[in-house]
Amino acid sequence: MQLEFRKLMFGIVTLLVIFLIIAEVQEEIGNIGGSRTLYLHSLIPKPNRNVAVKANPTPLGNEGEEKSPDSPSGLKNATRLSSDNWTFNRTLSSLIRKNILGFFDPERDISILKGTLKPGDVIHYVFDRQSTTNISENLYRLLPTASPMKNQYHRSCAIVGNSGILLNSSCGPEIDSHDFVIRCNLAPVEEYAGDVGRRTNLVTMNPSVVQRAFHDLASEQWRERFLQRLRGLSGSVLWIPAFMAKGGEERVEWAIRLILLHTVDVHTAFPSLRLLHAVRGYWLTNNVQIKRPTTGLLMYTMATRFCEEIHLYGFWPFPRDSQGKPVKYHYYDTLTYEYTSHASPHTMPLEFRTLSSLHRQGALRLNTGSCDAGM
Ligand SMILES: *[C@@H]1O[C@H](CO)[C@@H](O)[C@H](O)[C@H]1NC(C)=O
Ligand SMILES: *[C@@H]1O[C@H](CO)[C@@H](O)[C@H](O)[C@H]1NC(C)=O
Ligand SMILES: *[C@@H]1O[C@H](CO)[C@@H](O)[C@H](O)[C@H]1NC(C)=O
Ligand SMILES: *[C@@H]1O[C@H](CO)[C@@H](O)[C@H](O)[C@H]1NC(C)=O
Ligand SMILES: *[C@@H]1O[C@H](CO)[C@@H](O)[C@H](O)[C@H]1NC(C)=O
Repeated sequence: MQLEFRKLMFGIVTLLVIFLIIAEVQEEIGNIGGSRTLYLHSLIPKPNRNVAVKANPTPLGNEGEEKSPDSPSGLKNATRLSSDNWTFNRTLSSLIRKNILGFFDPERDISILKGTLKPGDVIHYVFDRQSTTNISENLYRLLPTASPMKNQYHRSCAIVGNSGILLNSSCGPEIDSHDFVIRCNLAPVEEYAGDVGRRTNLVTMNPSVVQRAFHDLASEQWRERFLQRLRGLSGSVLWIPAFMAKGGEERVEWAIRLILLHTVDVHTAFPSLRLLHAVRGYWLTNNVQIKRPTTGLLMYTMATRFCEEIHLYGFWPFPRDSQGKPVKYHYYDTLTYEYTSHASPHTMPLEFRTLSSLHRQGALRLNTGSCDAGM
């Protein structure tokens, strides 16, 4: 009897210890499920693991030592991105898609639908919870009744970031050759078609773009330019993050009014209120300590749902290229950006290192050079 009891106790204690060890390991990895860790061991350099788990406000992932913030620190010569030698890893890509779907469904969260809101409904901004806005009649009219990406699946997609690294890249034809082309912030294409291509299937438009690139639509000339850009989109999805941060309310309203007034042929979409948190949650859970995801990273995360192969262009959050030549922040304007500033809501260099790592593993293709190599 005594012996049986001791055996039982021993068994229970052993189980408890094993359980504690498993719990600890899972916590350290920072993952919800074991399967999520598969591709992540190589995603983020190991020495940073422990740092990453702490609530450390500084962007990390500098692969050990601190480097000059002005250099593309993710690109040590040994790990330079080789685009000619890239092969797609379908298995890994599917695994990532599956994991992302565990956090949110991009098909659904890409837009709020008509059925879920009505005019006059009050919305709290995602990043300014204290501030609210109302769903106007006009905005309501532009809400889709079904997801604009419903049942869409494409063999290869291009996501075009706006970095000046695209200038003189001759990537236009290659970008246009993909089945689905995603662009950011209504960036101009016509004047740069040789480097950035012309086709667009989905384009984002932050409210600030209306101000910055189209002078708040203040004059007839700027309204016409805005409309011209939209007309060039014929049939594309126009993705407007209207409820992220306060301040863009009127700009969104003006843009919407023009779209309705001129019956522009675009499919408007307004991201769900949970999208950004879900995307951020996915990366944080995978130990990529981003702040607010950039539009580019958002688009990649969502595109995994709709695209087999994903090719990125124009992602380069460094003021110089790998040869040391200056690179503009945007290919089309003169804005400058402090990529490593702590005041920035984004952690672009970290995002870039993460994407580089995924490139090396064959999960996506990150193109940072010119495209005319074989021509
Ligand atoms: C890294 O590459 C650059 C140009 O590609 C070259 O100038 C530099 O010497 C290289 N550095 C090392 C340590 O190999
Ligand atoms: C291509 O990749 C293989 C394996 O990773 C490597 O051995 C080879 O040197 C690479 N070739 C080029 C041209 O980079
Ligand atoms: C593709 O990715 C999977 C999952 O990470 C990995 O097990 C496999 O070895 C990779 N295949 C190649 C050819 O790299
Ligand atoms: C928003 O709606 C609320 C309730 O319907 C109303 O009290 C408020 O005045 C509205 N605000 C604006 C800016 O239209
Ligand atoms: C692009 O090429 C042109 C002509 O060769 C040159 O003048 C220009 O400086 C280059 N621009 C960039 C950003 O490299």
